[in-house]
Amino acid sequence: MLAPMDFDSENTPSNPDPRTTFGEIIAQRYSRRGALLGGLAATLAGPAGPAGAVPMRGGPSTLTFPELRQQLAQTDAVAEGHDRRLLIRWGDPVLADAPAFDPRRQSAAAQAMQFGYNNDYIAVLPMRPGQPIGERALLWANHEYTNTNLMFPGMGTPAEARGRVTAEHVAVELMAHGGSLVEIEREGRAWKLASPGRLNRRITAETLMRISGPAAGHPWMRTSGDPEGRLVRGMLANCAGGITPWGTILTCEENINFAFGGALNDPAQAESQRRFGIMDSPPYGWHRHVARFNRSQEPNESNRFGWVVEVDPYDPQSVPVKRTALGRFKHEGAAHAFAPDGRVVIYMGDDQRFDYVYRFVTARPHDPAKPDRNLLDEGMLSVARFDADGTMRWLPLVQGSGPLTPENGFHSQGDVVIQARRAADLLGATPMDRPEDVEANPVNGRVYVMLTNNANRTAEQVNLANPRAANAHGHVLELIPPGAPARPDHAAETMRWGLFLRAGKPGIDAGAEYHRATSDQGWLSCPDNCAFDSKGRIWIATDGAGSTAGIADGVWVADTAGAGRALTRLFYQAPTGAEVCGPWILPDDSAIFLAIQHPGQDPGSSFDTPSTRWPDFADGTPPRPSVIVITHAAGGPIGS
Ligand code: FEO
Ligand code: CA
Ligand code: CA
Repeated sequence: MLAPMDFDSENTPSNPDPRTTFGEIIAQRYSRRGALLGGLAATLAGPAGPAGAVPMRGGPSTLTFPELRQQLAQTDAVAEGHDRRLLIRWGDPVLADAPAFDPRRQSAAAQAMQFGYNNDYIAVLPMRPGQPIGERALLWANHEYTNTNLMFPGMGTPAEARGRVTAEHVAVELMAHGGSLVEIEREGRAWKLASPGRLNRRITAETLMRISGPAAGHPWMRTSGDPEGRLVRGMLANCAGGITPWGTILTCEENINFAFGGALNDPAQAESQRRFGIMDSPPYGWHRHVARFNRSQEPNESNRFGWVVEVDPYDPQSVPVKRTALGRFKHEGAAHAFAPDGRVVIYMGDDQRFDYVYRFVTARPHDPAKPDRNLLDEGMLSVARFDADGTMRWLPLVQGSGPLTPENGFHSQGDVVIQARRAADLLGATPMDRPEDVEANPVNGRVYVMLTNNANRTAEQVNLANPRAANAHGHVLELIPPGAPARPDHAAETMRWGLFLRAGKPGIDAGAEYHRATSDQGWLSCPDNCAFDSKGRIWIATDGAGSTAGIADGVWVADTAGAGRALTRLFYQAPTGAEVCGPWILPDDSAIFLAIQHPGQDPGSSFDTPSTRWPDFADGTPPRPSVIVITHAAGGPIGS
């Protein structure tokens, strides 16, 4: 998310010591550019060109669509030759009994059956696990957060809304969080929402969930409503996610600190909660209306959020599970890859300025013939340190090893996972420029890290992996695991790494760096989510370009290898105020699904006077977060 309400959570660091690590000190002795690209230049075709290079039309990209012109408009736009279609909007029916959407008379009961607010991660899944996508499919969407002043009439600004929110509003907002699962069906080359099917489901901030892994039953997980510390009501702030090899969804809790407020009456937890950004007066007013969100009444409730949640989309009765072995932080996504021996590797970003990149490797291999449904409960969580010699190391977060001792407050692995950030601080992980998606490219075997921005980084805090002070536009790193591209070792202790691009406008923003043929429409700002097509090309969705660069957020696409490497081209632009999330590309490249989140989230915009009424453009109807699908008009692959 970008600056939801009036509170800039990810941009307000909570890392007490975003220091320069030893490896980075060594780095200062090298030429910055030489060390960054030089180590990789021998293996990568067409490294990024010099900043300010004269743009060249066309260029060597394998993508042939006519590039969009950058704009900032009330509506969205897609590259010529493509069709976009609305799939589902906030308030559309998910369950068969859902009432018609009436934004002036919204109720918690209606919202619990309708598509939630602020769709972020999306996944398109077959109707049965392991099958190819047929004529029907399942669409999953996360609902990350609520914009009170855009959802309800008469709320004014975000700050005014916080004071005006009532218990009834809060009840609606709780139901607008979580996730939705709906059936969709093909219509020609495109897709449309099917009538509610057996698997359609709403998960909300009240859905009962199980806690598994090292934190289950931990004293800090116990509340008056759950004295055992093993069951929790709901999930919150679900940003990006992933899928598992056995067909379940991983949905990731990010800015959960918005929900909790009031004075903490447990000094033993003060440092842990401060490190997570949990505060007395949060952006939501929930703690004044719901006791479990008030720290003075339930000091432990916030520890039960901030996890990766596993949802089985094929069993509507299944209880979602919070997999605590994967650590607790502001999870962006959870994309999987494999070690050569079949162990599952989950890459994860912690989306806050000066926070870290993590990885989880399961203890045992995945067996496709006999999947272990609890594979994510045992394994190794580790955090990334980037060194100046072009290598990076995964540092294990294991109780009893290194500084993770009882003397430092880590008595159990439960302590480590609940306070994963503090454990990573002690291990000397590299503080990053807001890690968002971390995804493995299945074609070239490399891992791409979206670092969205970090204006707080000073010149003294610059390191090779975060090479710009006051980094307004972000950058993309590329990790290179050992092994052949077709069989990379994603569980390796060390990897090589380099820079893929530095965002911003070439020639204007210092250090912006892409392929030298990138056009004056092809530069981007604030990379957030990404996906790969069947050719291994990267599709990057952005969040924040409106405030950092004065252009709409959108989708840019580039080759990752060959002569067009890092030559980004503008494919889609969102309506004003919106970010683009969850790019999901079908395996045959016939469609890309996009989540258009928080349209109209602009200064001065409200339910009554929104900056856009996308996508309905009907008088009195506020903007509606929506999922769209884009196909090629002539039936070819997207991007052609
Ligand atoms: Fe919810 Fe990291 O954006
Ligand atoms: Ca974001
Ligand atoms: Ca995001």
